[in-house]
Amino acid sequence: MSPKPVFFAALAIMLMLLAPASAENRGSPELKGKAAELIQDYAGKLKAALGAAMQSQGPEGALEVCNKQAPAIAAEVSQGSGWSVGRTSLKPRNTASAPDAYERNIMEAFDARIAKGEKVGDLVSAEVVEGDGAKTFRFIKAIPTGEMCMTCHGETVDPGLKQKILALYPDDQATGFKEGDMRGVFTLKKIIDAGAR
Ligand code: HEC
Repeated sequence: MSPKPVFFAALAIMLMLLAPASAENRGSPELKGKAAELIQDYAGKLKAALGAAMQSQGPEGALEVCNKQAPAIAAEVSQGSGWSVGRTSLKPRNTASAPDAYERNIMEAFDARIAKGEKVGDLVSAEVVEGDGAKTFRFIKAIPTGEMCMTCHGETVDPGLKQKILALYPDDQATGFKEGDMRGVFTLKKIIDAGAR
């Protein structure tokens, strides 16, 4: 008798066993809900700080505010929540916001989905990742480039402003975006099982 039918039966059973496991690895509804809530808080605070600064001080003043406030707001939202909350991009302005390998993969997958016609605002990834004996919930949500963002991230940035950007961020890659492009992502992490390390 050929071993093939046995092999395929075993494979089918393995796939059946794997399916619920991978669904579980997307994280619980509670984790996803909390992540969405933290993003709303973080995005709201960033927008308020940026909007107020753009109105009262114009782009060059707002640049300074972004430079100081953006990392402070991320730290504030992270602190006390037990989560790590931040932003990253395939073309970062702040090198401290450069992606890790996991974030890079997810953003590249998002880019492929955008190329197939999916909307930037709909792209979300939630997954429990294992490594170093720990389990970490990772939540990533795409950030579309809006009209207001073009001043500092667009294709034509005022030369004076551009100079100020480069003075603060000599390795800036975050210009040349068009409205509607994925500017980057919100990236959240929560260790859900520190394991035995
Ligand atoms: C006044 C100029 C200015 C405007 C307007 C602006 N940004 Fe930024 N953006 C910055 C600066 C400065 C940083 C770097 C902040 C830091 O040091 O963490 C930044 C960083 C970011 C980052 C983090 C990743 C990275 O590249 O360092 C994202 C994502 C981002 N901006 C998206 C946006 C979006 C979306 C908008 C429109 C809603 C926007 N920005 C509008 C100046 C601006």
